[in-house]
Amino acid sequence: MGFTIAVTGKGGVGKTTISALLIQRLVARGETPVLAVDADSNANLGEALGVTFAATVGGIREDARKEANMLTGVAKQEFLDLRVQEALAEQDGYDMIVMGRPEGPGCYCFANNVLRDVIQRLAGNYRHVLVDSEAGLEHVSRRTLLKIDLLLIVSDCTVRGVRTAGRIAQLADEMGTPVATRGLLVNRVPDGVLPDGVAAAVAETGLTLLAAIPLDAHVAALDAGGIAVGDIPTDAPARVTVNRVLDEFLNDK
Ligand SMILES: Nc1ncnc2c1ncn2[C@@H]1O[C@H](COP(=O)(O)OP(=O)(O)OP(=O)(O)O)[C@@H](O)[C@H]1O
Ligand SMILES: [Mg+2]
Repeated sequence: MGFTIAVTGKGGVGKTTISALLIQRLVARGETPVLAVDADSNANLGEALGVTFAATVGGIREDARKEANMLTGVAKQEFLDLRVQEALAEQDGYDMIVMGRPEGPGCYCFANNVLRDVIQRLAGNYRHVLVDSEAGLEHVSRRTLLKIDLLLIVSDCTVRGVRTAGRIAQLADEMGTPVATRGLLVNRVPDGVLPDGVAAAVAETGLTLLAAIPLDAHVAALDAGGIAVGDIPTDAPARVTVNRVLDEFLNDK
């Protein structure tokens, strides 16, 4: 049984770092093939893993919209299928696709509807799907209609950040996004121990705290040097913690 795991949270909290580590853990466990979807408008999951891209779904959608009059429904479906296949960056154990920029002015309904089918069918070819998503879960819920088995809401280690994470969880509920399991990850926690105020804010959200991910010098150092964060050592505290979260989820199933 495959899972769709979505990582969400406000800007800069560590979604991409955590997504990259989760992909690597899935691959290391042999839970392959994995479809990695970069659905953040500030797309950088590829960078985190040293993967480069030729095309994005946003670009394909733009072309599809422009060519809307030239192609009939079936031809368009086939055209988009092919274009999406071409846009997949194939890696060892996983393929990555980038949703890219949101649409501009104009009518994208047809292109979006067709793309949704294409992405749902694409997802069916994989054991698991991992989505690095913006806070609104727009791409996940509206553009792809993927059901989410595990929603990981990431927060920084502040009271305000945790409250925002609580609101993001509410937003997901209000949008009617189907989510089976969800939990909170507080990231960049000094020494991995939550300050009392932050712990109290977590309790107020009612969210399950899955882990406090330590502030990790390995992550900071690689990032500062422009090196893919996926290269942090196997015993780096952030990696060890993310691995544990994934292992607990998978072993529970
Ligand atoms: N556990 C950690 N320890 C130290 N630094 C971290 C940790 N997690 C993330 N960072 C750093 O925090 C910054 C933001 O991380 P990241 O890019 O993963 O966040 P994001 O939520 O994907 O951001 P965006 O919203 O811009 O896509 C990066 O500089 C990253 O290196
Ligand atoms: Mg990101």
